Amino acid sequence: MGPHIRSDENDWHGLEIVSRGANRLCARDPQDPAHCLKFELPPGERTQVGLRQRMRRWLGRHVPRFGENRTELRAYRRLRARLAERTDGYLAACHGLVATRHGTALRCDCVLLADGSPARSLYRHLFEGPRLPAAKLCAAVDAFEAWLLENGIPLFDLNAGNFVVVPRGDALALVCIDAKSVLSGKEILPFSRWSRRLMQRKIQRRAQRLRQRIADASAGPVELAGRPPSH
Ligand SMILES: Nc1ncnc2c1ncn2[C@@H]1O[C@H](COP(=O)(O)OP(=O)(O)OP(=O)(O)O)[C@@H](O)[C@H]1O
Ligand SMILES: [Mg+2]
Repeated sequence: MGPHIRSDENDWHGLEIVSRGANRLCARDPQDPAHCLKFELPPGERTQVGLRQRMRRWLGRHVPRFGENRTELRAYRRLRARLAERTDGYLAACHGLVATRHGTALRCDCVLLADGSPARSLYRHLFEGPRLPAAKLCAAVDAFEAWLLENGIPLFDLNAGNFVVVPRGDALALVCIDAKSVLSGKEILPFSRWSRRLMQRKIQRRAQRLRQRIADASAGPVELAGRPPSH
């Protein structure tokens, strides 16, 4: 990371922020509006997380290969190698690590709306708005779940911050912008007896939990929805 300079809501070292996650900051790529740059945040700028994630962060700090950007890139490449164009429309492409004035970043396709602005995460739609119809969002979860099951993809981190929402015809679709969970659990604790059936059940449970969160968040006004942690 480069020297830390004060940052405000929309600007970080002069870069336009797309959004902040628990561990990384996503900014528009000043050289290409179709791309974004993800930076791993220094420890002091990250959100508070539970023990499991703290261990993961410790590992990322001490073993470069386990940093969030390297893990996401490896996960994306592995999925792309297996699925080729079947990732299109479901997974934002990662292009590689790039050196910038502000430190190393992961360059990805920025998922954009028709007007050229970045698509908002499902999390923001639920807890900040603008509100979208819960039935359409749940249908988008169904479609994503079906894609995971059809292709046997062990993506379990189905939290609302890892998806952005885009219109697709009359429907809505979810695009995953963070596939690192395909690897992050497994590389530390390999599930030697991991079966396809167990994997499917876990995906179904996580998708159901996400639909439930959509239903809960949609039951009240945005201001009263509160802001539960993004995981
Ligand atoms: N490719 C992308 N296109 C559009 N927006 C993106 C993209 N990648 C990230 N974002 C935005 O940045 C936010 C944080 O991204 P990301 O999940 O990669 O960070 P993170 O710190 O790894 O998150 P966490 O550790 O909380 O899962 C997303 O919720 C999304 O709004
Ligand atoms: Mg994420």
